[in-house]
Amino acid sequence: MNYHTSKPETESAIDRSIPDFPGAEPIDEKNYFSANKPPPYLSEIEDQIKDFIEVHVKSGKRVVLVTSGGTTVPLENNTVRFIDNFSAGTRGATSAEYFLENGYAVIFLHREFSLLPYSRHYSHTTNCFLDYMIEENGKVEINPQFSDKMLTVLRKYNNAKNSKSLLLIPFTTVNQYLFTLRSCSTLLEKLSTKALFYLAAAVSDFFLPMSRLPQHKIQSQATGKLVVDLEQVPKFLSRLVDDWAPRAMIVSFKLETDDNILISKAKGALEKYQHQLVIGNLLQTRKREVVFVTLDNEDWIRLSDDQAEKAMEIEELIIPKVIEQHDSWINRN
Ligand code: PMT
Repeated sequence: MNYHTSKPETESAIDRSIPDFPGAEPIDEKNYFSANKPPPYLSEIEDQIKDFIEVHVKSGKRVVLVTSGGTTVPLENNTVRFIDNFSAGTRGATSAEYFLENGYAVIFLHREFSLLPYSRHYSHTTNCFLDYMIEENGKVEINPQFSDKMLTVLRKYNNAKNSKSLLLIPFTTVNQYLFTLRSCSTLLEKLSTKALFYLAAAVSDFFLPMSRLPQHKIQSQATGKLVVDLEQVPKFLSRLVDDWAPRAMIVSFKLETDDNILISKAKGALEKYQHQLVIGNLLQTRKREVVFVTLDNEDWIRLSDDQAEKAMEIEELIIPKVIEQHDSWINRN
């Protein structure tokens, strides 16, 4: 298949040139986390994260929290309908692998059923895992054509598993994401500057607060219209930087569809949140080029034609550069 139904018509993509919302204040945090309920499994996840951090306080590894995939906004409590976004988790899952290869332990906070490190090579719908197998004498075997690559992936996966370096934490809704992000961040503060945040998730900007969420499936409306009155999701990056994990290095992403505003939006985010690095990317070219933006510098990273031809992944170039900056963050602080 050489076409993608998910490819947008860029001329009609949403206009993101309007100014972003202001960062969340402590009062926004208090209001959000008291008005919305935590997911019922949160304390189990917190225990898993505490154990993971203990293992790596001992192993001496740095820990990166990689967020990945889109968040959903349910329109009903017994959810039939929800609002979603395009993110498949490719950036997050691919980056997690390169962090692991570079000696980091990874907490992978991901949208459930989006791409996962290692299994992503075989789970994407354009890359069906059954195509990697053949039947030989009534038994299933790996097609020899793919076995070398599969062995390499399998070894890396087992290595991550055996060294307890990869912790998978799922979310689906934006509310689950926010509660879990806050828990992860405050627990990771224990690692001080050795913690790194790599926020590749595409988080919903608007949501329906629990107080207004209908319990059951929305029925047909007499007006013939469904009007949904969403509220702004507080921009918790400011709370993460100021309060939840102030000693960690924080890398956020900025996605735009218009290259004329990408750099100014990225700089605007740095000025607003005062964190260390924004990686800018355009929806149309995000797998071939990104830009590292700091307040005084813009550094484009691009796959050459030759690298693209060989199916090199841009994350292989991104992660060592992020790690360089994490090295100097640790040394400076
Ligand atoms: O998953 P793929 O299909 O590979 O796509 C990857 C990607 C394009 C989604 C990714 O590379 C990317 O750009 N992610 C960020 C998208 C974006 O522009 O997010 P934002 O402007 O809404 O948020 C800015 C940053 O704050 C992001 O790092 C986001 O993860 C983080 N954020 C935002 C809101 C919020 N409430 N919490 C957050 O952590």
